[in-house]
Amino acid sequence: MAQLSPILATRWSPHAFDPVADLTDAEVASLLEAARWAPSADNTQPWRFLVGRRDDEAFKRILTNLSAANQRWAGHASALLLGAHATTGPTGGPLPHAAYDLGQAVAHLTVQATALRLYVRQISAFDAAGLRTDLELSPEVRPHVVVAVGRLGDPFSLPEDLRAREIGLRQRRPVAELMLR
Ligand SMILES: Cc1cc2nc3c(=O)[nH]c(=O)nc-3n(C[C@H](O)[C@H](O)[C@H](O)COP(=O)(O)O)c2cc1C
Repeated sequence: MAQLSPILATRWSPHAFDPVADLTDAEVASLLEAARWAPSADNTQPWRFLVGRRDDEAFKRILTNLSAANQRWAGHASALLLGAHATTGPTGGPLPHAAYDLGQAVAHLTVQATALRLYVRQISAFDAAGLRTDLELSPEVRPHVVVAVGRLGDPFSLPEDLRAREIGLRQRRPVAELMLR
């Protein structure tokens, strides 16, 4: 296999988070700083985040809008971050790359989390309209992803189907399949 930085090689997305671990303020600041320094189209930086910490009101409002399948595990994360992006630029023009840019910011955040020995699982199955209402989001932002962050938990605390996925081998396409030619 080709060489990979240990930070990328050790990153993976658990379902089992430690239900009593909290993030420090410095850790949260570090994650957001990593997102802040991501590249973006024309440096528009369209990503926006809302941080919920376990048991605070924002966390509860995010959790309750996740799909039932995701609610089974996400409540144990130390934090649930809503990742959104602006829908128009500073001069009112469209931002065709905003979702791509948000993805890059979350990728940066994920790498920083790994450097801090934290774990991330991203979530796209949620009720966006419900989140918009419950978090009183401006119509100028589009909620796109929820980012669960925390310390690694016990896979045996998971329901059986999730436990099997948690300890199973991760799969990837071979590089040859990624090449257009
Ligand atoms: C945009 C996005 C949406 C995702 N949505 C969900 C989700 O709703 N529920 C879930 O359990 N995992 C979700 N995941 C996690 C992926 O399933 C996971 O990253 C993928 O299986 C690869 O595993 P790895 O991150 O451990 O390499 C999502 C990941 C991304 C990037």
